[in-house]
Amino acid sequence: MNAVLTPRAESGNRTTQQWQAADAAHFLHPFTDFKALARKGSRVITRAEDIYLWDSEGKKILDAMSGLWCVNVGYGQRALIDAATRQLETLPFYNAFFQTATPPAIELAELLAEVSPPQFQHVFFSGSGSEGNDTIVRMVRRYWDILGQPERQVIISRKNAYHGSTMAGASLGGMAGMHAQGGLPIPGIVHIDQPYWFENAAAGVSRDEFGLVAARWLEARILEIGADKVAAFIGEPVQGAGGVIVPPATYWPEIQRICDQYGILLVSDEVITGFGRTGHWFGCETMGTRPDLMTFAKGVTSGYIPLGGVMVGDRVANVLIEQGGEFNHGYTYSGHPVACAVALANIKLVRELGLVQRVHDDVGPYLAQAFAQLAEHPLVGEAQTCGLMGALLLVKDKTGRGDRGTPFASDLEVGMICRGHCFANGLIMRAVGDRMIIAPPLVITRGQIDEMVALIRRCLDLTLADVRARGLDR
Ligand SMILES: Cc1ncc(COP(=O)(O)O)c(C=O)c1O
Repeated sequence: MNAVLTPRAESGNRTTQQWQAADAAHFLHPFTDFKALARKGSRVITRAEDIYLWDSEGKKILDAMSGLWCVNVGYGQRALIDAATRQLETLPFYNAFFQTATPPAIELAELLAEVSPPQFQHVFFSGSGSEGNDTIVRMVRRYWDILGQPERQVIISRKNAYHGSTMAGASLGGMAGMHAQGGLPIPGIVHIDQPYWFENAAAGVSRDEFGLVAARWLEARILEIGADKVAAFIGEPVQGAGGVIVPPATYWPEIQRICDQYGILLVSDEVITGFGRTGHWFGCETMGTRPDLMTFAKGVTSGYIPLGGVMVGDRVANVLIEQGGEFNHGYTYSGHPVACAVALANIKLVRELGLVQRVHDDVGPYLAQAFAQLAEHPLVGEAQTCGLMGALLLVKDKTGRGDRGTPFASDLEVGMICRGHCFANGLIMRAVGDRMIIAPPLVITRGQIDEMVALIRRCLDLTLADVRARGLDR
């Protein structure tokens, strides 16, 4: 029987104030100061098309963050909508626990193996990136158990990494603010410093020299713990939520060497960098590593519906399959047929539109050029891009600290001032400290990049005027 919708549930026509009041009364938002937001009121996003959003006031906004790093094919793609509708009508759900499978899950597993680097022939599905990283922790520890080395428990990650918000995801992540709430990290997870040249390099050290130094922090930590106790190293090819920190070109190859030398599993968290974002199907291909495991989510469905998982390389898969017996782990929504149907349509569309190549050959280099010009702005100390991810670091003066520039004091929150101007000027750009970051949909055109960059420039000018008027540059 069809449910009868009440007028309240149907209404799309409340005023912004009515939406905000109901939101403040009932909806606890992620990573939010609930009380402060209730006082201010949420911005209510009501529809979207291509790379643009509209809010409940009818204002058009250029979404330079692809939702939350996920809407790679842009909004309103008919192929994804139809795939979901068809699958909902045919089989909205069945699980994969009881020696059962559904056609979309099987087909997606096959297609993921095809687009992933050759060592990946198997996939374990989850509902999100965080769950995928929980699976990573269970799987790498299980792998070493099966091999008779149960003391190999420690997973090494990096400060300022983001690997999700569940207990394991937040523990793998290196966000001090998250660790401070709830007694994290869980045992057996440790963090080394990140390859962030601007903050962590000693004076006079070039980016490439620093890449090697930063990678060798891993080696030092392995030797300190004892290689026979270390299970894996996990990293995002480009740290995303940490501020789009593109590592020096020397960093990842040296990490690979170290993992190989000590026999440690290498895990590439591709939740942001997967499915074309960096100009290859996966960020590990851009960085030149051969990971044993890859976490994915977001871009697998372009965010149209939740789905995540872990690509399991042959080294691990062969042990789990041949010697492991039952793996006591899984989620109700592992291989959800509707999510898998949408992912299939999404990946096929990425292929049809040639988006990965386009990021690599066309819009990626075009964005890099535009960001190189923005680097000339008096407020910008560093401009970095990798494919269609980019960051502008706002600095107090471009010439301090040798060739690096002097940062603003963090309590001035200059990044938040800039974000405020972006919000007011119809641009979604995120602030991570004073790093202003973007990751626009991969379908963005050159013309739209020009439009985005003009908006960014205007917001930088407005921020600079504010900074000067308030004397924050002194
Ligand atoms: C690199 C990385 N890993 C994991 C996650 C967690 O994914 P989810 O929010 O789907 O749980 C994120 C989310 O932004 C991420 O950026």
